[in-house]
Amino acid sequence: MKKIVSISGARPQFVKAAVLSRIIRSEGDFEERIIHTGQHYDINMSEIFFREMEIPAPDYSLHINRMNHGAMTGKMLEQIENVLVEEKPRAVVVYGDTNSTLAGALAAAKLHIPVIHVEAGLRSFNMKMPEEINRVLTDRISQLLLCPTPVAVENLKNEGFENSGSRIALTGDIMKDAVLYYGKSCEEKARVFPLLNLKNNSYILATVHRQENTDHPGRLKSVFAALDAVHEKTPVVVPLHPRTEKFLRQYGIETRIIKIKPVGYFDMLSLLKHSKMVVTDSGGLQKEAYFHRKPVVVLRDETEWVELVRHGFARITGAVKERITDAVAHFENLEMDFGKNLYGDHAGDKIYREIKQLIQ
Ligand code: UD1
Repeated sequence: MKKIVSISGARPQFVKAAVLSRIIRSEGDFEERIIHTGQHYDINMSEIFFREMEIPAPDYSLHINRMNHGAMTGKMLEQIENVLVEEKPRAVVVYGDTNSTLAGALAAAKLHIPVIHVEAGLRSFNMKMPEEINRVLTDRISQLLLCPTPVAVENLKNEGFENSGSRIALTGDIMKDAVLYYGKSCEEKARVFPLLNLKNNSYILATVHRQENTDHPGRLKSVFAALDAVHEKTPVVVPLHPRTEKFLRQYGIETRIIKIKPVGYFDMLSLLKHSKMVVTDSGGLQKEAYFHRKPVVVLRDETEWVELVRHGFARITGAVKERITDAVAHFENLEMDFGKNLYGDHAGDKIYREIKQLIQ
């Protein structure tokens, strides 16, 4: 049977891989080998996703983490290459924009194995972000560019990808499939919301982990000052990424918000469902908020998900305290119509068909 290797290493990738793995295994046309790079390794950041989402155990666990970007990407490149030489797959699937994405794509491209990029074409146009570097380079060496939005397709066309010999396909967003599939059972399996003793629709769910916020004391202070100010009126719940926790301690930032440990996927869906609004610098959570019909305040200077901003579902605030509190106040009193379909349907099935066509 034809073999595919899929590579993931960080939380948002496990979510996307869960959807595609399920389809690959139920259709039965390919054998899938899974590489987990180890970029995320805490139980709450990794194992819980495999368990809850029933992702098959990785065939290769590389345990590469806690390194600077260059060392991490280099070590992944070396070890993924070894696996690919051994497995000789017909194609390699990479997801999103992490260091694991770039390392996987580069290892495959150097061995002339076709690279399939799920979530291609997204751009923040901010080359200071490690994720932007990873995306641009991964797209350049991918043979199949699977785009979640029409804007992503446009981005690739503007960069001349139409003439690059790779195929661009609009598939819609695979994270929507995950929300619909796992959303059905999340309430039975979620544990955290009931423990918080909060009423439905009474709190704001926030996450902060981007390097552009965590690595700059001024920005991180300002973000948490804003969250504290909001918390005086509306409780703010933050599942805290280990990176952020480390820097809060390091910079001596105190906060009164409700801090909890990182949560698994079912708990995240349930926390989203019961929240009234989301404040975040995450990429994936912006859309998950939209799928749950919640407005979102984006703690960044730009977003790849520009359609959310264009349609008024999201506001970009950067790390500026007043802009954050203003945006929260704006959404507090706003009734919005979430009827639009910005991210398509059945992306997983479309992605699967594209893969089948590529390696038939
Ligand atoms: C990475 C991705 C980012 C993605 C995010 C999702 C890159 C460049 N960034 O960022 O695109 O949105 O994952 O969460 O690939 N750590 C732990 N335990 C863990 C994982 C990480 O303590 O399970 C610590 C690491 O040791 C490190 C820090 O958190 O100190 C950052 O981890 P890293 O994976 O490098 O980046 P993320 O911020 O998670």
